[in-house]
Amino acid sequence: MSKTKACLFDLDGVVVDTAKYHYLAWKRLANSLGFDFTHKDNERLKGVSRMQSLEILLSIGKIKPSDEEKSKMAEEKNNWYVEYISKLDENEILPGVKDFLIELRRNGIKIALGSASKNSMLILNNLNLTSYFDAIIDGNKVSKAKPDPEVFLLGAYELKVHPSECVVFEDAQAGIDAAKAANMKVIGIGQKDVLLNADKVFEGLSNADMDIIEF
Ligand code: BG6
Ligand code: MG
Repeated sequence: MSKTKACLFDLDGVVVDTAKYHYLAWKRLANSLGFDFTHKDNERLKGVSRMQSLEILLSIGKIKPSDEEKSKMAEEKNNWYVEYISKLDENEILPGVKDFLIELRRNGIKIALGSASKNSMLILNNLNLTSYFDAIIDGNKVSKAKPDPEVFLLGAYELKVHPSECVVFEDAQAGIDAAKAANMKVIGIGQKDVLLNADKVFEGLSNADMDIIEF
């Protein structure tokens, strides 16, 4: 018998591929500042908070703006990003995700979102997925970014389950480290060789069933 009572999902890269839209918006900002930003650079931003992402981008461009200029840049990037994700619809839900959420609910497993994104609600609403989540913990609710476990611990708290009864789904190393620090099981979504310390790794959630949350 599995002791799993709840599943906590990261959003970007697990439920939907928003990395491409983050990339377009960050690249637009970099170009406006006079330097380039590559797909490889974008990989470094996965799971990283908005302001930390900006710091990485500025270090690539080797520029040091004031704090006030930095907040303006982050706001500009976010406006562009929101413009892109406003057009999201159900077709962009990653393969298998919706069926898996339905299967979890049918089996009485509680479901929470555990994301760093302050745009989580807009994304979930556009994907028509909001009603599947019993708790939504996003970037507006936490003060410490992954790899700090705060986002997942708050999720377990809101679902009224013990962390040891939770399974986290994550595509970023910072998120896997956060789940482990929360004393939860973690399923990595992506490539085995780059996601270290996950309990299991799958390329995606196509054909995911109740067996995968057995530990
Ligand atoms: C994470 C993404 O889920 O959210 C990061 O992987 C992003 O790339 C972070 O920077 C914050 O998102 P947002 O939407 O609040 O800028
Ligand atoms: Mg992610």
